[in-house]
Amino acid sequence: MRWIGIIRILAIVFTLLSTWYLAEQLFTSKWETSSLRKIFDNGVKPQKVQKKIYRKCGNDKDCAENYFAFRIISGAANVVGPSMCLEDTILMSGVKNNIGRGLNIAIVNASTGHLIKTGHYDMYSGDVKDVHKFFEPVEDGSLIFMASYDDVATKLDDEVRNMFGGFGSNYAKNLGFRDSWAFVGGKGLKTKSPFEQYIKNDQKTNKYDGWPEVLEISGCIPKKMD
Ligand SMILES: *[C@@H]1O[C@H](CO)[C@@H](O)[C@H](O)[C@H]1NC(C)=O
Repeated sequence: MRWIGIIRILAIVFTLLSTWYLAEQLFTSKWETSSLRKIFDNGVKPQKVQKKIYRKCGNDKDCAENYFAFRIISGAANVVGPSMCLEDTILMSGVKNNIGRGLNIAIVNASTGHLIKTGHYDMYSGDVKDVHKFFEPVEDGSLIFMASYDDVATKLDDEVRNMFGGFGSNYAKNLGFRDSWAFVGGKGLKTKSPFEQYIKNDQKTNKYDGWPEVLEISGCIPKKMD
C-alpha cells in the first residue's frame, strides 16, 4: 500500500502549492491596486477634480433673478440653536449671538431682502405680550422667518397663533410643547406659505430623548415686486 502514501503526500504538496499560489496572487493584485498603482497613477493620470460649486446659503440649487436664496434650520433639542440665512447673509445664528430659547424671529424687507430686526422669546417662562409688541410695527411686505429652539409653544396664545396663520402658517395652531418648527412666511400674504416644516414632540418617534429632530428648509423665495 505504498502508493496510497505517495498519493497522500502528493495531495498535501499540491494543496500547499495552490494555497501559496492563490495567496501570492491575492497579495500581488492587492498590492498593485492599493498602493503601488496609486502612487504611479498619481504621477501620470490627471486627478479627477471634484468641482464644488458654492451656492448662496449653501443651497443645492441656484435661484432665478427675482428670488432670494434662503435656508432655515430649527434648533436641535435645547443644545444647538437655530440658524437663518438669506442671500448669504446670516440673519440669526449662535455665532451671531442673536438667538435664544423659544421662538426665534427675523423680519426682512420682502422687496430688498434687508434685515429689519430679529428677536427671540422664551415661550416656556417668558411673556407672550412681548411677542405681540414685537409684531406691532411689522408692516405688510415683510418676510417673516421663524424657528423653534427647545420649547416654542407653551405660552403662545390664540391671538398669536392666528396672526402666524395670517403670515401663511399651517401649523401655528398645532404648535405644542417642544415641537420642532421652521417657517418662512410674510405679512400681507394672500396664500399659505410653502416654506414650513413641523414635527410633533413624541417620545416614541423623537430623535433626541425629549425633542424631535431638527428641521431644515432651503430654496428660493420670490421677491416682492411692486
Ligand atoms: C422695503 O424697502 C423699500 C425700498 O427701500 C421700501 O419702499 C419699503 O417700504 C420697505 N418695506 C418694508 C416692509 O420695510
